[in-house]
Amino acid sequence: MKILVIHGPNLALLGEREVSVYGQFTLDDINSSLNDLAHRLGAGIEIVQLDGEGEIVEKIGKARKTFNAILINPGAYTHYSVAIRDAISAAAVPTIEVHLSNIYAREEFRHKSMIAPVAVGQISGFGANSYLLGLKAAVDLLNKK
Ligand code: DQA
Repeated sequence: MKILVIHGPNLALLGEREVSVYGQFTLDDINSSLNDLAHRLGAGIEIVQLDGEGEIVEKIGKARKTFNAILINPGAYTHYSVAIRDAISAAAVPTIEVHLSNIYAREEFRHKSMIAPVAVGQISGFGANSYLLGLKAAVDLLNKK
């Protein structure tokens, strides 16, 4: 079982960026928690952080043959990227959308997700734990297959 984790744009700045919204933990903190949990659940994971929309599209396109599920925080692209939505739809790899913040409790432009309709589901608002809940959901999903 192999799961691809994609952190989208600006997430490399976690711990420094808008700490009151996103928390003080860094991307490395999240990644080590993800690696620990994956190990405990017996899942293989690859984690990438990509700022570019095209890079994310390309990574999803290649994931089709190598990964059983994708966990993605598309960052701001969530709200307008038809390209990432289409890439997920075309790849047909079960995808879980995660957000650190509760996007529905923030500015109105964040209430719309282009990704949600092509995702298995969405986890939003639990801080770093959104990723861990997402990974657990992906593993459960694959175990049921
Ligand atoms: C985010 C929410 C997005 O609206 C924002 O643009 C981000 C982070 C989150 O994880 O809460 O970059 O995806």
